[in-house]
Amino acid sequence: MTKSMRKAIALCLFSMGAVGLMAQSNEFKIDVQRPGAPIQSTMYGIFFEDINFGADGGLYAELIKNRSFEFDNPFGGWTPFGNVTVQTKNPCFDRNPHYVRLSYEKELTGTGLDNEGFKGIGIRDGEKYDFSLYARVQSGAPVKLRINLVNSQNDLYEEKVIEVSGKEWKKYTVVLTPGATEAHSRLRITMATKGTVDLEHISLFPQKTFNNRPNGMRADLAQALKDLKPGVFRFPGGCIVEGTDKATRYQWKNTIGPVENRPININRWNYTFAHKKFPDYYQSYGLGFFEYFQLSEDIGAEPLPVLNCGLSCQYENHDPNENCPVDKLQPYIDDALDLIEFANGPVTSKWGKIRADMGHPAPFNLKLLAIGNEQWGSLYTERLEPFVKAIRAKYPEIQIVGSSGPQSEGEDFDYLWPEMKRLKVDLVDEHFYRSPEWFLNGAKRYDSYDRQGPKVFAGEYACHAPNRENSFLTALCEAAFMTGLERNADVVHLCTYAPLFAHVDAWQWRPDLIWFDNLSLVKTPNYYVQQLYGHNAGTNVLPLTMQNEPVTGQNDLYATAAVDKKTNELIIKIANTGIRHKKVKLNINGLSAGKHKGTLTLLHSSDLEAKNTLCNPSGIIPIISDIEIEAPEAEVTLSPLSFSVYRFKL
Ligand code: AHR
Repeated sequence: MTKSMRKAIALCLFSMGAVGLMAQSNEFKIDVQRPGAPIQSTMYGIFFEDINFGADGGLYAELIKNRSFEFDNPFGGWTPFGNVTVQTKNPCFDRNPHYVRLSYEKELTGTGLDNEGFKGIGIRDGEKYDFSLYARVQSGAPVKLRINLVNSQNDLYEEKVIEVSGKEWKKYTVVLTPGATEAHSRLRITMATKGTVDLEHISLFPQKTFNNRPNGMRADLAQALKDLKPGVFRFPGGCIVEGTDKATRYQWKNTIGPVENRPININRWNYTFAHKKFPDYYQSYGLGFFEYFQLSEDIGAEPLPVLNCGLSCQYENHDPNENCPVDKLQPYIDDALDLIEFANGPVTSKWGKIRADMGHPAPFNLKLLAIGNEQWGSLYTERLEPFVKAIRAKYPEIQIVGSSGPQSEGEDFDYLWPEMKRLKVDLVDEHFYRSPEWFLNGAKRYDSYDRQGPKVFAGEYACHAPNRENSFLTALCEAAFMTGLERNADVVHLCTYAPLFAHVDAWQWRPDLIWFDNLSLVKTPNYYVQQLYGHNAGTNVLPLTMQNEPVTGQNDLYATAAVDKKTNELIIKIANTGIRHKKVKLNINGLSAGKHKGTLTLLHSSDLEAKNTLCNPSGIIPIISDIEIEAPEAEVTLSPLSFSVYRFKL
C-alpha cells in the first residue's frame, strides 16, 4: 500500500481528529469512590482452534507428521525409499491400524523413510529430542535401524542406532542431540542390517516442552499464552467442533487415553478453502482434552470447552442426514455429561478414573461449557434445549454458553438472542470478524444491552482490514472496541480474540494473534492489546465520562477506567485514534490530593500499516514508563494513534 493510501485510510477512519482538535476540551470525570460492576477474572481469555496448523505443527510439540501412517495417503509426510509397504495385519494399535514394513533381504541399496515434519522439523543446537517408535521383526534375527536428522542438503546432523528384536511389538527410544539449529530438517530412518521390520507411531519430541510435560506443548508458544494472563481458555474451536459432517465432527472421547491409540481425524481446514488446500492437514489429537485441561491449569485460565450440538457445519453441509435427529441426541448429550465427569468427577467415577489414570486425580474444576459453535435457526435451538435440560438436571453449577450464530447482527442473531433468553443459558457467544469502522462504532455496542438476560461471551473477534493483515490499525481498533467490553463488564463476562495461532508457511485464515515458524514466533500488535487488557483488567469498573457521556469516540477517544481492589490501584485505558496529540484532563474524584506516582504503558505506531514480523518482532511493543500526576485534577498528553494504560496507586 502506498503512503498516500495509508494517509487516506487514516484520514477517513480517524477524520474526527482535526475537528476534535479545534473544539477540543477533553476532560474525563472518573469516580474512584463509586466502584461498579465486577470485572470477571475470566474476562480476557484465549480461543484455540486447530486452524493454521495451530495444534499439530504448532502448539503440540510433536515434530513428526503422520506418525501413525493414518492419513488417507498413509505415506503423507513420508518419503519411503527401498522396499517399504503399508500394512494393517496384527497392528500395534487397533484404532490406528496402519504401520509400515521395511524389508532388506538382498544387497543394501537403502531401505527406509524420511519424514518432512510440518514444513520441516525445527531443531536447536544444545537441545535434546526424544525419538521413539514401536517395532517388531518378522523373522528371528534382530534388525538395526539408523536414526538420522538431516538438512535439506542431506548433511547429517545426528545419527543413533536402534536394534529391534522379537516378533512382538515393543517401544524403542533414543535421545537425539543434533548439535545444530535448523528450521527445516528431516528425520530419516534407514535399515542398517538385513531383515524385515515393522514400524509404527514414530515420534520425535523436544525434551524441553512447556512445564516439561510429556506429550507436551511447544515451550515458546505455550509461554506466549501464559504471558497473556488469560482468564479463560476456549477449546477446541471454532468450526472444527462441527467438522464438515457427522463423521468429521470433534469427538472429545477420541482425544484421551494413550496418544498412540487416539484415532486421527481429517482437519476440516484441510479442504475448506478451495484456494488454500492442505492435503496434509489432519488432527492427531495428541493435544486432546486431557492436555487441554492441564494446559489451562498451567497457564491459569478457566477451561471453556465447546461441544458439538448434533449439527454439522451449517455453512458447508446442507444434507439433513448429516444432522443428528433431535430424538437421537442422547449420545451427544452423554458426551457433554461425561466430559463434565471427566473434568470434575471423583476418581471412583468412570470418567474421573480415566482422568486420574492419565495423571491428574484432582478435578480440573470445570465451570463453563458451550454447546454448539456457529449454529443458527431452530435447527440449533431445538437441539440446544435438551442439552440445557440434561446439564441443569445433573450439573446445575455448570454455566452453559449458547450461540448467537456467526453474525454480529441480522436475522439469525435477532432470532437467537431471545431464544437464548428463553432457554436461560448463562452466556451467549457472539462472533465478529468486522471492519475497522465496525470496531470503532462497536465501542458503544454493549452500552444499551439488556441487563436482565444472559451475559455476553465475545467468543471470536478480530478486526479485519481489507488486506486481512495484523496491522497496527486493526490492533488500535480492537483496543478502542475493548473499552466498551470493559465498561460493560456487568453484561460482558468473557472475550476471546480469534484465531490464536498461524504457521507462516501453512495458514488458512488471517489475521491471527500469534504467528510462528518451526523455531520462533512473533507477537502481533493485536497480541499486545490483548495482553494489556489481560494484565490490567482490574476488579471493578469505575464511572468514566466526558461531558456526562461514556467516551466512545468523541474527539477520537475511547476510554474505560477500573479499580484493582487487590492492588489498590486506579487503571485508565485510553485509545486515541486521532492523528494528533491530545491533552486529557483527568478529574478523579476520590483520589487523595497531591502527587501520585504511576506507570504509563504505551502501544503506539505512527504507521497504521505497521506490523511485527518474524524478522522484526519488536517493531510495535508496549513501552512502560514511570509517570506522576497531581490529583484531583491532572493532565495527561496522549500520543497520536496510541493505546495508553495508566496505573496509579490510590
Ligand atoms: O476463527 C476462524 C473461524 O471463524 C472459526 O472456526 C469459526 O467459528 C468462525 O467462522
